Amino acid sequence: MRRLSARALARPLVLAAAATAIPLGSAAPASADSVVVGGFPVEVADSPWTVALSSRDRFGGTRAGQFCGGVAVGRTTVLTAAHCLGEEVLGSPPDQVEDLKVIAGRTDLLSDEGQEVRVSAVWVNPAHDDADNSGDFAVLTLSEALPAGSVVGMAAEGDPAYTPDTQALVYGWGDASGAGDYANGLRAARVRVLPDASCERAYPGSDEGRYLASSMLCAGEDAGGRDACQGDSGGPLVAQGRLIGLVSWGSGCGRPGSPGVYTRVSSLLQTLGWDAPTAATKGQREGV
Ligand code: ARG
Repeated sequence: MRRLSARALARPLVLAAAATAIPLGSAAPASADSVVVGGFPVEVADSPWTVALSSRDRFGGTRAGQFCGGVAVGRTTVLTAAHCLGEEVLGSPPDQVEDLKVIAGRTDLLSDEGQEVRVSAVWVNPAHDDADNSGDFAVLTLSEALPAGSVVGMAAEGDPAYTPDTQALVYGWGDASGAGDYANGLRAARVRVLPDASCERAYPGSDEGRYLASSMLCAGEDAGGRDACQGDSGGPLVAQGRLIGLVSWGSGCGRPGSPGVYTRVSSLLQTLGWDAPTAATKGQREGV
């Protein structure tokens, strides 16, 4: 299923078929698939760190080649999901995608506002595990700096933004209906950080993945309806003004009892050795 949904970024019909084929553990309303995401349109100026990953060569030019989300954490540093750069999505290793770009400052993918910046280096977490979805993050280096002010601070271990019940926003240009309706405009959905115990109960381990509290977090609403979906992967989950998650995986989109699962930013900070802030960056982070 995970493989199908990754491919479905380029082939929405496959996704629709695969999504309806997921056996639901609990009785979900038959309409669950028609109420996914539950977001609202936003302007990229209000979340300028939300970027789109693009390759017109691999995904066609109609939506500027958008295939995943990303988030600027430095003026030349973008975080995204490791699975966005996998061969199943790109059809080749990322270094063979010659027109891999980050699109910043563009709310509507059909417009030419903002900028397209070439990716000069790709680092995919070597510990990313396709079987349980753990370690789902990658770091892109940009060939040109994004404007000052288009960077979001990251929430380190112990940050109150991770506390269960905290309100968070997830951003993306992904599927807005669960049926392959890829948005042209940036959208956001309001979700709540859920306690690890609920996430573990929702995802004890199947071929879709397994919830691992040390490196993942999950967010949603008990009633479902608001969630990230295909095409949002790699994009930001922000709470209290700080980045806490990257869109990673989930069973369907917006289903009650199947929250969205995110790469836990505090854990990737540890893996990257970025969690020992100097006094200066710590001050910045607290000021966000
Ligand atoms: N794997 C999807 C992607 O590649 C993201 C899925 C997120 N799903 C969810 N229900 N939150 O875009």
